[in-house]
Amino acid sequence: MNIPFSPPYIDQDIIDEVVASLQSGWITTGPKVKALEEEVIKLTSCPQALCVNSWTSGAMLMLKWFGVKEGDEVIVPAYTYSATALAVLHCGAKPIMVDVKDDFTIDESKIAQKITEKTKVIMPVDIAGWPCDYEAINNLVNRPDIQEKFKPQNEVQSKLNRILVVSDAAHSIGAKISGIETGVLTDITIFSFHAVKNITTAEGGVICLNLPSPFNNADEYAYLRMMTLNGQTKDAFSKSKAGGWRYDIIDLGLKINMPDVCAAIGLAQIRKYDHNLLLERKRVFDAYSQSFSKLSWTQLPPQDNHRIQSSYHLYALRLKNVTEAQRDAIIDEIAKLGVAVNVHFIPMPMLTLFKNLGYKIEDYPVAFDNYSREISLPIYPQLSSEQVDYVIQSVIDSYQKVMSVSNA
Ligand SMILES: Cc1ncc(COP(=O)(O)O)c(C=O)c1O
Repeated sequence: MNIPFSPPYIDQDIIDEVVASLQSGWITTGPKVKALEEEVIKLTSCPQALCVNSWTSGAMLMLKWFGVKEGDEVIVPAYTYSATALAVLHCGAKPIMVDVKDDFTIDESKIAQKITEKTKVIMPVDIAGWPCDYEAINNLVNRPDIQEKFKPQNEVQSKLNRILVVSDAAHSIGAKISGIETGVLTDITIFSFHAVKNITTAEGGVICLNLPSPFNNADEYAYLRMMTLNGQTKDAFSKSKAGGWRYDIIDLGLKINMPDVCAAIGLAQIRKYDHNLLLERKRVFDAYSQSFSKLSWTQLPPQDNHRIQSSYHLYALRLKNVTEAQRDAIIDEIAKLGVAVNVHFIPMPMLTLFKNLGYKIEDYPVAFDNYSREISLPIYPQLSSEQVDYVIQSVIDSYQKVMSVSNA
């Protein structure tokens, strides 16, 4: 059997929506993007949603919007996909890494000690679709002693008058804490619509604006929308209307808008997300948990509880008492059986760019431990129960093969 890691979910509804976009006479940002933004608002209840061409570009836009620049610091977990920190570096600021917990998310108890007068933003990451402890993080940024440290350097920062919380929710669309959707758990939430994500537009992302008063989220949306289009007052769709040619460039924007032809894919997916695609992911997640919970050598990823519901983006299985080399050998054996698995993530301090910047993995022991024992299993709606069983058996056989050789 050959089981890919994460093929996109493409059904007839998606093909029809893309074809409709192709045949409509308009393929870049226009009505499909607007419709997708409205579906995101419907799903998450966020006040405003702005589609962009990736999570990464969305994060860069929001950091720039907050005026993050050279000399500033942004707190991120050491354990994430590098885009989280790369967006910070692109603004000239310094990512300040914090170790994570056993549930893979940033250790909120270690954030306060990293906050300085240079800290402008905290970017927690909902690894695998498991939301961070946002209650603790939101309480922290509103604590009087932490607020006192915040030194606003522009109008937007003065308006908020505290550290901004931008959630890296690349994995977690559809996750919930106490029934409240990701998208409204922090000031700003950014979802990724990359090809392997729960909802995809091939490449893309969406920024959910949930700014507190005195911000007006609709005004910020209107400004940010222009900033996704080179700071141009009119998008190409409006300009293409008869008589609509005149425009202005009002600020130094980016060119990071999402095309309609891409939005069409996500639009057809999001319409069947919470009552279909997400439940199918849960089916696979629960089947893995049921089987692996019976084995003494496995550690299950965090499981839904009365408060937190995952978006089941990854099934991050950990093996107990294995070395990094044994884990790698087990992955090789699983691959020989035709199953594509992955590792989420190589902690950033282990990657060349960050090593060269002075980060050391020894400073993040939990991130290393999580990484060294982790194997991400295929999880997507199209997986049949026979395929799920085959994945489970492949993991078991591969573990036994490698560990019996290691222990011999
Ligand atoms: C945690 C995390 N953050 C950010 C990103 C970047 O998303 P995009 O590829 O849409 O820029 C990813 C993508 O894999 C991710 O896993």
